[in-house]
Formats: sequence, C-alpha cells, structure tokens
Amino acid sequence: MLVLGIETSCDETAASVVEDGTKILSNVVLSQMVHNKYWGVVPELASREHVKTVVPVVKSALDDANVQLGNIDGAAVTYGPGLVGSLLIGLSFAKALSYSLRIPLIGINHIEGHIFANFLENPHLEPPLVCLVVSGGHSNLIYVEDRGEYELLGRTRDDAAGEAFDKVAKVLQLGYPGGPIIDETSKKGTPDFVKFPRAYLEEGSFDFSFSGLKTAVAIYVSRLSDEKLEKHRIDIAASFQEAIVDVLVDKGIKACLFKKVRNITLAGGVARNSRLRERLEAEAGKHDLKVFYPSPILCTDNAAMIASAGDFRLSRGERSNLDLNAVPYAKLC
Ligand code: KG4
Ligand code: ZN
Repeated sequence: MLVLGIETSCDETAASVVEDGTKILSNVVLSQMVHNKYWGVVPELASREHVKTVVPVVKSALDDANVQLGNIDGAAVTYGPGLVGSLLIGLSFAKALSYSLRIPLIGINHIEGHIFANFLENPHLEPPLVCLVVSGGHSNLIYVEDRGEYELLGRTRDDAAGEAFDKVAKVLQLGYPGGPIIDETSKKGTPDFVKFPRAYLEEGSFDFSFSGLKTAVAIYVSRLSDEKLEKHRIDIAASFQEAIVDVLVDKGIKACLFKKVRNITLAGGVARNSRLRERLEAEAGKHDLKVFYPSPILCTDNAAMIASAGDFRLSRGERSNLDLNAVPYAKLC
C-alpha cells in the first residue's frame, strides 16, 4: 500500500510517500525560516507559510517517489496536537485529496507519528517498549505495549525539553533554534561548570519540569558581567544540557525498570541530542537495556512517520471522516 503522509502541525511543511508502512520512497521537509528573527514560532506566520508551500511540497514528495497521485492508496495527516491554524492547512489539503481521488483518509496523532519513526528506522524493533518523546512542544514518557496501545507514564508539567533548549539559547544569545546550537557548542564546554537544579519531582513520578532550570540559568546569567558571560557561555550551555539530560536519562531508565521492558526508544527533535544519546546508551548498558533512536531527519517533524502510522491504522480498517477537525491539544493516551 502507498500512503501519502502530510504534516503541518508546527513550522515544518512535510510530505512523504511510504510503501507498506516501512519503505520511505520520499520524505520532503521544508522548515520555515521566517520565525528565526523572532526567536520562536509565530503561529499566524506559520499557517501563512503552510498555505504557500503545501502544494509544492506534496508535489516534490510525489516526484521524488516517482509516483502519480492516482497510485496513492491512502492519505494520512496530522490532526493534532499542534497549532490550530497550521494543522488546518494540512487537514484541508488531505481531505480535498481524499475526496477528489476517492481514497481513504486517516487522521494521525503527531505523538504517535514520532513513536512510529522508530519502527520505520528499525523494522525489527517490537513492542513492548518505553518511548521518550522529547521535542519543542512535548516531553512525554510513553509505555508502548503494542502498536496503537499506549500508556502515558509521565509528561512535562511546564516547558517541553526542546522549549527549554530554545529559551536558554536565547538567554545565552546563541541563536535559534537553540537545541542544535547548544548540542554542538557544549561539546567544547565543561558540563559541571555550574550545578544547575534537577527537578526529579515526587518519588516515583515520571513527570518532568524544566521551567525552574530555565529560570535558574537566566538568574545565573543576569548576575554575570559581560566579560564573564563571554568567557563561560559555552560552559553554562554545557551545564544546562547536562542538567536536562540527567533528568531525561534517569526517568527513562526508571520507566523501563518499572514496566519491565528491555527496549527504550527516543523520538522528537531533542532525540537528536548527542549528549542525550551518549548518556542514555551508557546508563542503559548498565541495566542490560537496548536504546533505539531514529536518524536525525526522522527525529524532527516529518511526514514519513505520519505515513507509517497511517499505514498501520488504514491496514486495520480505520478511516477518518471528512468532518475530521484539528485538535490542538489532542491526547494520545
Ligand atoms: O520534533 P520537533 O521538530 O518539533 C516539535 O514537534 O516540537 O522538535 C523541535 C525541537 C526544537 O526545540 C529544537 O531546539 C530541538 O527540537 N532540537 C534539539 C536538537 N535538535 C533539535 N534539542 C537538543 N539537541 C539537538 N541536537
Ligand atoms: Zn514533533
């Protein structure tokens, strides 16, 4: 089955053709640059960009896959969570395709898409497993009992992990988006230069909280002279990254031990973080756990993961109606 995936939940316009849920024939991702000067995504600008780019992006996905629209068997589209205006562009487009081509439509939860990125990348990976979904909008620890069977173990109570990276990069005047810049610059820094707070919350909780850490960095920086900040910017970035990674790794491993699973997967933009991967692998090794993560292009928002999840749901006979609406705070479980 050939599924066309469409993803427009935030600031990436993406389309992909995936065969039988696992073979990526094309994967086009257009990241909107218009937000960079505002140091964050401006929702109204994001929807306007999606309107301009959705048609060419879908066309490139079909061209790259060497597939005609008439050969597509189903359309899978993100319906939430995300920015309502942005979601509506992808949804309207996918509905129009479904109606005019008389092919089934399936709405996909964006978080389920991120989880499926791991199945796309590792065809032999089988649940049960724990997935740590960490991106600009989400930080969730999810128990994946099976494909389509999820249990939310923990979530962020305030900022998402990627959001904390982006905001701290702004405080340190490093640029936007902050995650990749902090990741790269931290390689030259001293991770124990400042001992920033780690919020582990109540005993046994799998929830996260990163706003206190972000504030601690801002207060620390506000007390530094310009010279000191210049000299230690990279050490502060590395110390912040270490604090966030410590908590993610600790809770991820504990979640695996709690659910008695042997596999932990990373998903979402922050899954690209090299220190997170390195530390998680080291800790997982001590408990005989295996770590999986998608390649960088499948970590950040993309439509191949949506098409793959769509293939799974369409194959089970699931269909969405043309009255499918955008759900900005859609829950997976
Ligand atoms: O999954 P994604 O593309 O979009 C959302 O669904 O939010 O994630 C984007 C987030 C941004 O906050 C970005 O700073 C972060 O992922 N990110 C990283 C890295 N690459 C992207 N954070 C830490 N280290 C990275 N290498
Ligand atoms: Zn995402």
